[in-house]
This record gives sequence, C-alpha cells and structure tokens, in this order.
Amino acid sequence: MNSQTESAVDVYRARRARVLTALRQSGGGVAIVPTAPEVMRNRDADYPFRHDSYFYYLTGFNEPEATLILDADAKDGEPSSILFCREKNAERETWEGFRFGPEGARDVFGFDAAFPIDTLDEHMPRLLADSPALHYALGTSATLDEKVRGWLAAVRAQNRSGVLAPSKAQDLLPLLDEMRLVKGAHEIAIMRRAASISAEAHRRAMHACRPGMREYELEAELLYTFRRHGAQSPAYGSIVATGANACVLHYPAGNAIIQEGDLILIDAACELDGYASDITRTFPASGRFTSAQRELYDIVLAAQSAAVDATRAGVSFDAPHQAALRVLSQGLLDTGIVDRNKFASADDVIAERGYARFYMHRTGHWIGMDVHDAGDYRDHDGPLDDQGARPWRTLQAGMALTVEPGLYVRPADDVPERYWNIGIRIEDDAIVTATGCELITRGVPVDADEIEALMSAAR
Ligand code: GLY
Ligand code: MN
Ligand code: MN
Repeated sequence: MNSQTESAVDVYRARRARVLTALRQSGGGVAIVPTAPEVMRNRDADYPFRHDSYFYYLTGFNEPEATLILDADAKDGEPSSILFCREKNAERETWEGFRFGPEGARDVFGFDAAFPIDTLDEHMPRLLADSPALHYALGTSATLDEKVRGWLAAVRAQNRSGVLAPSKAQDLLPLLDEMRLVKGAHEIAIMRRAASISAEAHRRAMHACRPGMREYELEAELLYTFRRHGAQSPAYGSIVATGANACVLHYPAGNAIIQEGDLILIDAACELDGYASDITRTFPASGRFTSAQRELYDIVLAAQSAAVDATRAGVSFDAPHQAALRVLSQGLLDTGIVDRNKFASADDVIAERGYARFYMHRTGHWIGMDVHDAGDYRDHDGPLDDQGARPWRTLQAGMALTVEPGLYVRPADDVPERYWNIGIRIEDDAIVTATGCELITRGVPVDADEIEALMSAAR
C-alpha cells in the first residue's frame, strides 16, 4: 500500500496504543516486532516479499527490512511507537521502486519516531537500558533471538555505570493473537472484498470448465481473476483437483486432464491487502452431477448448513464441527459407506470415529491475515478434561472462521463402488455475529441445482 487513508492510520495507531496499555499494565518493557525476512528463491530471484502479519497488524507498513519498537517505559514526550525502516536511496529506488524512508513513514503511518533500520543495533541497548522486560515472539526466529542476545550483551556491558538489563522476557504473541482473533470493521470490510473476488474466481472457473481441459487451465482462470481485481496473491497454494485427485487433501493444481464424469474440487482464494479468503467448491466437469455424486454432495451441503446454523456468539468453537459430524455420519450410514452392521447409529459412528476414514479434518479454522489465522482454539483458563485438554473457546461476535466439511471416498472393498474416488468439500468464510454468522463467500453458488444452472448457462 503506497498511501494510507486517515482512518486506516488511526486503526493501526489504536492497535499500537492497545499493546502499549497492556504492556504498561503488566509492568512495562519494550516490545520488538520485526517484519518478515526477504527470502531468496534461486540465484538473484527472491520469493515475492510478504510482510509478517503481526508487524503489519500493528503498522500497515509493507516494506521489507523494518522493525517496530513499542516502548512502554517512554516518559511523557518521549517516543513510544518507533519504526526502523530502510532509508531513502535514489539508486536502489531506481532498481526496486519507491521507499518511504524513516521520515516519510513516520508522517504517513503515524509513528512517534522513525530511524534507519541500520541504526537499530545502536538504539536498542539505549532503549533496553533499565527496562524491566522484553516482549517479543520468543523462539520463533533464530535471527531475532540472536539479535536480542547481542542487544542484551551490549546493555550488560554498561553494568558498571549502574545500568540494568531487562530481567524478564515475555512472549508477545498471546496478546497479539487475542487482539487479532476478534476482527474490527476495517478488517471485516477488507475480508468481504477478498471474499467477493475469490467467489468471482470460482464462478469464472465453473464457467470455463470443459472436459478435456487440464487442472492448471482452471487454476489460470482463478489467478487471472485475483489479479484482475487487485488481490496481491493467492492466500495459499491453489488446489484444483479433478476426479480421484480430489481425495488428496492438499493436492496442488497439476496437469491432469479433466474427464467427462469427474467432479472437480477447487480450494483456492486470494489475499487482498493483507487479508486471506478461503473458498472450496466442488462441481461436475460435465455441468451435471451423477446420481452418486449428487447424493454425497447433498450430504456435505447439509452438513455445512448444520454447521453454519451452529455458528454464533456464545457457542463453543467445536459446535459447528459436531453439527457437521452428525450429518456426515448419518449420511455415511444411509449410503452404506460405513457398514450398518458395525454401527447402529450416527452416535456410534461419532463415538468410534467411524467417519474418520472419509472425513479426516476439522470443520473450520480461524481466518484473517493468515488463512489459518492466529488465536487459541482452547480456553486456557478453563478446567482440564479427563483427556488433559482445555475446553474449546466460546465464539464471540467479530471472530472469523471457515465452515468446510467434506467427504473423501477412496476405493476399498468394503465401500460401495459407485462412490469410489469421489472427493467433495464445501467451504465458506463466516463472520460470527450476536445471533448467527455472515457468510461472506456466497458470491459463488453452493446449491447443486444452482451450480448446474450456472454451468449450463455458460455452455
Ligand atoms: N485452504 C486451506 C484450508 O482450507 O484450510
Ligand atoms: Mn480452510
Ligand atoms: Mn480452503
């Protein structure tokens, strides 16, 4: 982002203020939040740079080589929110493009102060001198751990002049994770836009699909749509899986040829302005489901509806999963995919995990800046159960999660052959509200008749 609106700047500034308040309440200290490193792909070619989500959450700044320092010990008039970033450099900017430079970044992004990143090692010993605590992502980066070690050594070298080094290091991430878990209006607005671009991409892929095409040709339709609408990249590796490939959970779009009777599973979505979306649709290559495909599709869709109905503020994170499991387990019994002689009821299938051969993932995950977003799934203040686990946490308005049940039937002697090699997942992104949830990805149809109508209109 090369420019920031006033309100976006205020959003990031308010987050920094919240962190500073929390740090002061815990006794003070200095927080260190670096952005992600640039990573070489091969010989002079870098991977596309992607900022660190925590850093971006607190700054809105997406240049590489930058670190945010939040100094909760700053006295009145001293800077408490300090950015270190690349200096302006006419020559480098000729090759690589615009840089804000410290002064520009300070003014545009609303930091109290900003300095060249090359001076971080000079500033840190001064900022850490006599500070009670260090707050950073403990043990997540060997580079950062090593830098902290150097800064502490430099502070300790001043011991004889009476300077004390921080006596405590605290993990900063739990605080940031909790903040990121509940989305504000600014974030939800971006997530809705990302979701609607991704939904359009799925519609385009359904439109374009013809037997005889290769998976990567459908992937191209998705990527085209993401970029055409300004999304910076896919939020994760696109899955475009035709036929039996749909039973491979993380199958990347490959070069398999789409056959007439195949179902195609596409799990693909864009990242827009730092926020992920995550959509899966499964549709018939020919434009019409076979009866076996339709049976399983309707079971997965009913499971998703049940999970969506169970998604609202005040219920357990696990409630949508349990609701989906019940419908899927009943469906597995009804179709004979699980043996009715072995399981008397859906309760039995659930209790004995009879579904797990055909449904081996959970029904959702947090989504936000990261596709599998930050935030605990368990309530760490809750009591341990007899398995030693804490209770699932309670959903609250503003949390965002996916709802993504599926069924994956591999060939096996004890499974009716008509269902072999069918893999189905249906995934939407939900924002929890007081009374239910808002599905932000429904710009692409999910109902089997509507999918067939869309595909038939394209032919
Ligand atoms: N696309 C990754 C997931 O569904 O979790
Ligand atoms: Mn997902
Ligand atoms: Mn997905």
